[in-house]
Amino acid sequence: MRAAVVSAVGEAPGATVMEEPGPRADQALVAVTAASLNPVEIRVAAGRMGEIRTPYVPGLEGVGTVVRSPSLEAGTRVRFENHLPGFGKNGAIAELVVVDEDAIVELPAGVGDEVAAAAGVVGITASLALRRAGMSPGDRVAVLGATGGVGQMAVQLARTAGAASVVAVGRDAETLERVRSLGADASVNLNDIEGDDLTLALRAGAGGDVDIVVDTLWGVPGMAAIGALGAEGRLVNVGNSAGVEVDLPLQAMRQNRSAVIGLSSGWTPLETKLDAYRSVVEAIVAGDVTVDYEVVPLDGVGEAWVRQASSPHRKLVISLA
Ligand SMILES: NC(=O)c1ccc[n+]([C@@H]2O[C@H](COP(=O)([O-])OP(=O)(O)OC[C@H]3O[C@@H](n4cnc5c(N)ncnc54)[C@H](OP(=O)(O)O)[C@@H]3O)[C@@H](O)[C@H]2O)c1
Repeated sequence: MRAAVVSAVGEAPGATVMEEPGPRADQALVAVTAASLNPVEIRVAAGRMGEIRTPYVPGLEGVGTVVRSPSLEAGTRVRFENHLPGFGKNGAIAELVVVDEDAIVELPAGVGDEVAAAAGVVGITASLALRRAGMSPGDRVAVLGATGGVGQMAVQLARTAGAASVVAVGRDAETLERVRSLGADASVNLNDIEGDDLTLALRAGAGGDVDIVVDTLWGVPGMAAIGALGAEGRLVNVGNSAGVEVDLPLQAMRQNRSAVIGLSSGWTPLETKLDAYRSVVEAIVAGDVTVDYEVVPLDGVGEAWVRQASSPHRKLVISLA
């Protein structure tokens, strides 16, 4: 079979031919049609998340049809998420993949393979962030890194869940426009503003104190957003693209009784993630949420890998069909 393979630490994967995998009796064998790229995989392959074992097949998530399975009929269309590949396990960017049965979601007819692959990790993460924040209709929501995959999903899911206002924060002007068309009421470009000014801009864009921040950035923008939270506001952090070291504005947090909540979908119980994924697919089928994506053939995986490292503003989906 053909697959993408990372051959050495720090190298982008290339397409190659390798032996077909064999599932255990309690696992499924899936013929993959589409697998999307995610930032965490780039960090893994670069050796930034611990010692990796090469060669390995990357790809955290994918969509395909069941070849054989203890519980599902052959031909069933499914989405699956693997263990983070690179640490002894292979991933999803391969024509055939072994999948644990409990990591599988059957797909409804109304959602295409590429969309279902593109919406996975980003949709799950955005959905879990809003759930973890306890979002209710009428909340004012700010999304930091709204131009990214997670951010675009968070804007739309917050809108669909009845947010009073959604403010999108990012750096890429064109994509901020796109995010406004996806449902953000206001946008703030980090290239034009910083520090206390961002706090003011978030309040102005939200129409008052912010109730919930979905934060993929941390760093200076994250701290400014904490300053914009109102009473019992919640910032749910999922990433730190803008920096790790910060000075938490503790006095503002105590005064407002606000909270910073960490979230990793990788450390979230599987059943919770599958439930979040099903809700995202429902929202896509209902036409409430969309995901921008670009399909790349397997031979282009190396180039797509490089693009993923610097915010492609859409999901890059590797086609194996
Ligand atoms: N905790 C979890 O479970 C979980 C799950 C999924 C993703 N994540 C993390 O969440 C983050 C976003 O993921 P994604 O899939 O949305 O990635 P993505 O599509 O590549 O988007 C990256 C986003 O980060 C922004 N960005 C990058 N570097 C920045 C910087 N130095 N300062 C300010 N903004 C910066 C980009 O803004 P511009 O393009 O506008 O410059 C863009 O909005 C990543 O760190 C990822 O690892 C976490």
